[in-house]
Amino acid sequence: MTAILQVRDVAKYFGGIRAVDGVSFDLEEGQIVGLIGPNGSGKTTLINVISGVYKPNRGKIFFKGEDITGLDPWDIYHKGIVRSFQVPRLFEKMLVVENVMVAHRNQKGENPVIAPFHSKWKDQEVEYAKTSLHTIREFGLSRVRNNWATELSGGQMKLVEITRSMMSEPRVLLLDEPAAGVAPKLAREIFSHIVRIRDEYGLTFLIIEHRLDILFDYVERVLVMNYGELIYDGDPEGVYKDPRVIDAYLGE
Ligand SMILES: Nc1ncnc2c1ncn2[C@@H]1O[C@H](COP(=O)(O)OP(=O)(O)OP(=O)(O)O)[C@@H](O)[C@H]1O
Ligand SMILES: [Mg+2]
Repeated sequence: MTAILQVRDVAKYFGGIRAVDGVSFDLEEGQIVGLIGPNGSGKTTLINVISGVYKPNRGKIFFKGEDITGLDPWDIYHKGIVRSFQVPRLFEKMLVVENVMVAHRNQKGENPVIAPFHSKWKDQEVEYAKTSLHTIREFGLSRVRNNWATELSGGQMKLVEITRSMMSEPRVLLLDEPAAGVAPKLAREIFSHIVRIRDEYGLTFLIIEHRLDILFDYVERVLVMNYGELIYDGDPEGVYKDPRVIDAYLGE
């Protein structure tokens, strides 16, 4: 079986900085993989390259066997690779439920030709509202669904962002610190949701997280980056024993 995502010798430079420098790995469908490494080691840049925000200087990316290298973010999103941001990007002047609904695919009401004809998109809108509310409930956000995005706690914003990324029917989710700045209890809740989603829908996750004690309870595989290179690819237990990782990241 082909891996759902194949990253082959990908490099991204910013002037003289080799942010990502020859990274290769495969993600098998349904895997939950942690991506760790020191600050500035290239984790976010790697996600930016996979999701099309940056074109790589070198290397290839394949999604379900198809070469998607250099496609625009919008095309990659529509193929089913969805990313979240290190700092949540919510629409501040929208309610939680609206923030989640905007991510639905193919909204007829957004088509300027169809928009004036209410009857043509009303049913779809009702259907989308239903699935949005269902997902909001699944993620434990029912209580705040009619709050403004600005009224949420940092942890709730993170949850809304993940909830929203689910609405576009993704196959691969690239999550940039989905639990950063969130208390351990809520962080574990977020990770439990991720495991549940994987079990239910067979989605594949690549997740950046700095708190290894939490991350390692939920992932089966870990990638470690250092100075743009992949220095470890294996199970969580092995991370603490690997000399290169200890040297670069864990210390002592
Ligand atoms: N747009 C950019 N322009 C110039 N340099 C950049 C840009 N984005 C990232 N870099 C540099 O690339 C390197 C990798 O940064 P990146 O944000 O990918 O690291 P990271 O592993 O996500 O770090 P952190 O854990 O702090 O989020 C850093 O040296 C950073 O300063
Ligand atoms: Mg980062």
